[in-house]
Amino acid sequence: MWEVRVSPSGEFGNHPLHFAQFHTAPLAAAMGAEVVGVRLTELDEQGLADFKQALYHHKMLFIRDQHLTHAEHEAWAARLGPFAVDAYTQGVPGHREVHPIIKEAQTSSKALFGGGWHTDSPFLPIPPAITTLRQVEGPPYGGDTTWANCALALRHLSPAYREMLRGLNVWMSAANNFATQEKLLGGAIQFADREQFEQGQRGTMHPLIRKHPETGEESLYICDTYAAGIEGMTSHEAKPILDYLVAHATQHAFTCRLRWEPGMVALWDNRLTMHLGPNDYDGYRREMYRTTTAGGVAE
Ligand code: SIN
Repeated sequence: MWEVRVSPSGEFGNHPLHFAQFHTAPLAAAMGAEVVGVRLTELDEQGLADFKQALYHHKMLFIRDQHLTHAEHEAWAARLGPFAVDAYTQGVPGHREVHPIIKEAQTSSKALFGGGWHTDSPFLPIPPAITTLRQVEGPPYGGDTTWANCALALRHLSPAYREMLRGLNVWMSAANNFATQEKLLGGAIQFADREQFEQGQRGTMHPLIRKHPETGEESLYICDTYAAGIEGMTSHEAKPILDYLVAHATQHAFTCRLRWEPGMVALWDNRLTMHLGPNDYDGYRREMYRTTTAGGVAE
């Protein structure tokens, strides 16, 4: 006889933080917080260091009423670290690090950018660490982004399961995503260049449990869109483990969901989270811009 699955309980750890220039107001028990009391462009050096600490703690932050220009967005994101290679999108004219994600009201598509649970570009040998996203225009309802806290999900696995995962490497590849897009959209996927496309297919092995380079916090490094195998295992062996881990990490208790407003900026740490941008707002325009900050090799 199996036990009925019950909601996880115990330590969630997403408590608010207070700093000299701002404080945080948690969005959910699992993760995410609003940053209150500051304009992003006015954070001084200490404020930025505190802001990064808040990001590593909450995994996702959002700030209302910023209404950044492309130039302000790019300049502010540059303070988070060097920009990453973005495999899929190109920057807007004059601001090559600010990448548009726009769906027009009359567009209807079976697959949208970021529409499955994923961490950004893990098929790269050095995947992006931090992504920032701002909204200029959005639907009156729908278009909410959801995140999952993969560090919390790791802590809520049984010790035996955690030990089984330790030392395993996950193969992150875009091949399945390309095939799905091809099937749903009937055309070759847009990619920044040929080398990026080939790197996407080839993919990269990363530790399935990775350590955050700034805090040492351990996290599952998994992805529904890109995790395609486990080193040394057959696909029949690997798939149930990866499917279970994605289902485990994306359960309600480990997520937060953001209702966007025009002028809002959000950012997240790809080393500790997955996210999903939904395809549920046909008939409305959604205009977003994002940047990605370079990470290091996963350890
Ligand atoms: C993304 O995956 O970066 C996009 C998320 C969104 O559009 O909400």
